[in-house]
Amino acid sequence: MDMTDTINPKRTAAQAAMSYVRSGMVLGLGTGSTTQYFVDLLGTALQNGQFTDICGVPTSQATAHQASMLGIPLVSLSTHPSLDLAVDGADEVDPNCNLIKGLGKALLREKMVELHAKQFVVIVDASKLVVQLGEKCPLPVEIVPFEYAATLRFLQQHCERVEFWTQADGTPAVTDNGNYLAKMYWQGGIDNPHKLARTLTAFPGVVEHGLFLQMADVVLVATSQGVQTIQANRSPA
Ligand code: A5P
Repeated sequence: MDMTDTINPKRTAAQAAMSYVRSGMVLGLGTGSTTQYFVDLLGTALQNGQFTDICGVPTSQATAHQASMLGIPLVSLSTHPSLDLAVDGADEVDPNCNLIKGLGKALLREKMVELHAKQFVVIVDASKLVVQLGEKCPLPVEIVPFEYAATLRFLQQHCERVEFWTQADGTPAVTDNGNYLAKMYWQGGIDNPHKLARTLTAFPGVVEHGLFLQMADVVLVATSQGVQTIQANRSPA
């Protein structure tokens, strides 16, 4: 590990994920500042011939843009329904490798793509580890613009505080899919994430939520002592 890695845990985690990549793989490419390092490293590895015949399914317009600038061939699930590996960051990781994702506004495409991966590797720095999901950050929820106030009222019934996600100029934050976003807050975290996930999924105004439960296979955590590898135990909920 060089000094750059020592002072940049996101890059360190991304570098560790490179050891899961093989030539010929179809990859799910996540979104966010940690994954940006991974996509960068992947682009460099393709350019210098370390890997060949790799293509990726991007989880956002931003990642698609970055990957195509780096010459990473992009494909879609329609032609490549099974991914060998997906790599992405997370906003929170609990001791069972359940995740909150989506504070980069890409949770729907991330979940759609990562669900198709034979192996889903999550890259984080140690600040993302929590005991209970929702204890440090809010849960992002993608919602339909139509009658969104009614959906916010529904979400409010299932958390301590709900916030409509707006940009600095006060206009609604809009996802790549043209939807709005809400953030759900709890003091001390979410009591029962599996129950909450079922409740949110069942409501028509909710498009998708940022609870990624039992999806991660491996979490690579960059710490000051190096990278810790946590293997998920996929026991039933
Ligand atoms: C994107 O929508 C998110 O799920 C990101 O993966 C998550 O917010 C982590 O982002 P950073 O790597 O920027 O912390």
